[in-house]
Amino acid sequence: MGKNIVLLGFMGTGKSSVGFYLAKKLKRKFIDMDREIEKIAGMSIAEMFKIYGEKRFRSEEELMAGKLGQLSDLVIATGGGVVLKESNIISLRKNGILIRLNAAPEDIFERVNRKKGVRPLLKKDLNVDNIKKMLADREKFYSCADLVINTSGKELNDIVDEISEILQKGCTDERTGC
Ligand code: S3P
Repeated sequence: MGKNIVLLGFMGTGKSSVGFYLAKKLKRKFIDMDREIEKIAGMSIAEMFKIYGEKRFRSEEELMAGKLGQLSDLVIATGGGVVLKESNIISLRKNGILIRLNAAPEDIFERVNRKKGVRPLLKKDLNVDNIKKMLADREKFYSCADLVINTSGKELNDIVDEISEILQKGCTDERTGC
C-alpha cells in the first residue's frame, strides 16, 4: 500500500488540475476534497458558505481529512485552507506525502479571476495585493509540506512530470519515503 499524495497550496495554484493528471499518470484514484464535500452536502462550497457559513465548511473539511487519512494510494487535491487546522494536517500526514504547490500572486489572481464566484473567500476585493496579504498570513501553515513545487510559468504536463520524477526518486528519501 502506497502513501497518499496530498496536494496543498493556496487557491489557484493548480491543485485540482495537477492532481487529476498526476493521478492519471500514476494510475491512482484522484480525490478532490472540495468536490467530495459538495457531493456529500448536496450543495456547492459557495452555497455552503452562504447558507451555513465558513464554520460548517471547515467541519465538513475536517471530517473529510480524517476519512482520507485512513485510505491509501490516492492523489488528493485539498482546499487551500485545509492547512489552517492542525488536526487536518495530522490526518493527511498519517499516510500521506504533503506536496505544496506555489504560484506567483499575479498568476493566482489570473486563475481565480477567471472563475469568479466559486471561491467565497475571494469574492470581495479580489486583487493582487489582497492575495499577497492572504498568502503571507497563511505562509506559516503551508510550511508543513514535505516538498514545494512552483507552478508559475510551467506547463501542466511539466509539473506532473516534475512531481512524479521526484516521487520516484523519493522512494529512497526519508522525507517522501514511500
Ligand atoms: C479555500 C479554498 C477553496 C475551498 C474554500 C476555502 C481556502 O479551495 O476549499 O473556498 O480557505 O483557501 P481551492 O483551494 O481549491 O480554491
